[in-house]
Amino acid sequence: MSCNLTVEIAGVSFKNPIFVASGTFGYGLETQELTDSSSLGAVITKSITRHPREGNPPPRIVETPSGMINSIGLANMGVERYIDTVIPRIDEIGTAVITNIAGFSIDDYLYVMEKLEACKAPICGYEINISCPNVEAGRMEFAVDPELTGRLTESLREVTKKLLIIKLSPNVTGIASIALAAEQAGADAVSAINTVFGMSIDTQSRSPYVQTNVGGLSGPAVRPVGIACVYKISRKVNIPIIGIGGITSANDAVEYILAGASVVQVGTANYKNADTARSMIDELELYLAENGIENLSELTGGVIPNE
Ligand code: DHB
Repeated sequence: MSCNLTVEIAGVSFKNPIFVASGTFGYGLETQELTDSSSLGAVITKSITRHPREGNPPPRIVETPSGMINSIGLANMGVERYIDTVIPRIDEIGTAVITNIAGFSIDDYLYVMEKLEACKAPICGYEINISCPNVEAGRMEFAVDPELTGRLTESLREVTKKLLIIKLSPNVTGIASIALAAEQAGADAVSAINTVFGMSIDTQSRSPYVQTNVGGLSGPAVRPVGIACVYKISRKVNIPIIGIGGITSANDAVEYILAGASVVQVGTANYKNADTARSMIDELELYLAENGIENLSELTGGVIPNE
């Protein structure tokens, strides 16, 4: 039986639902010797900001049980250099590219998006990081406020016809209300979740392992958090949901899809093996074939909740 893995989000078609997550796959060009990115559904770039950023002082990453804590501080080359050095090579990635944007004000986000629109960058859309946990200025300001999320989404919607995806934080009281604000302001999709606040302390030195003390926790430890968020969002909005958080296998991806995700992103698992996401595609096809599912879309939201 042949299974159809293609998915559509707001009219944009992807060859399969396995994407790689922002911050775990560079700008999409660095992994070429480690995996075949052309077989992935899409590559999401690390966050691009208006100005280049050095990021936070080291140590910036620590392993924890079933995951890791990072505090990178949005280190990136800035939009100008991204346009000059990465955009001309985007074909080498061989699949759809979604550029992730971060900022500290609506103006910042608009600046980056307008630059990319002006140069007619051959990307299929934008994922908007409203939820970096690791920078002081405006920390999480957008992510926790439905009204600000709505205003930002609305402003960006006026600038682009490309895919507009708002990436949500789990570090909020009601993630579904933020998703709803994004939907009502014109977002094509939401992605969930970004990292969960986390802290880990060396009991000998009494120092936290990352320099900023608190960072963002990712990996299998956060998977049930992500799945619950996707489930809650799916009960409140009609736009597609992109599931993220601790996905290491096709089975993990199916859990997210059953909870309501249309596609998923693999993040932390890339650090262990950058070929993880690619290898999940065959695994997913096998799951569909074994379960007699012809179209992946049949699975989305297919969970049978307890009464
Ligand atoms: C960073 C940004 C994020 O959005 C996140 O979830 C974790 C870390 C960062 O750049 O520090």
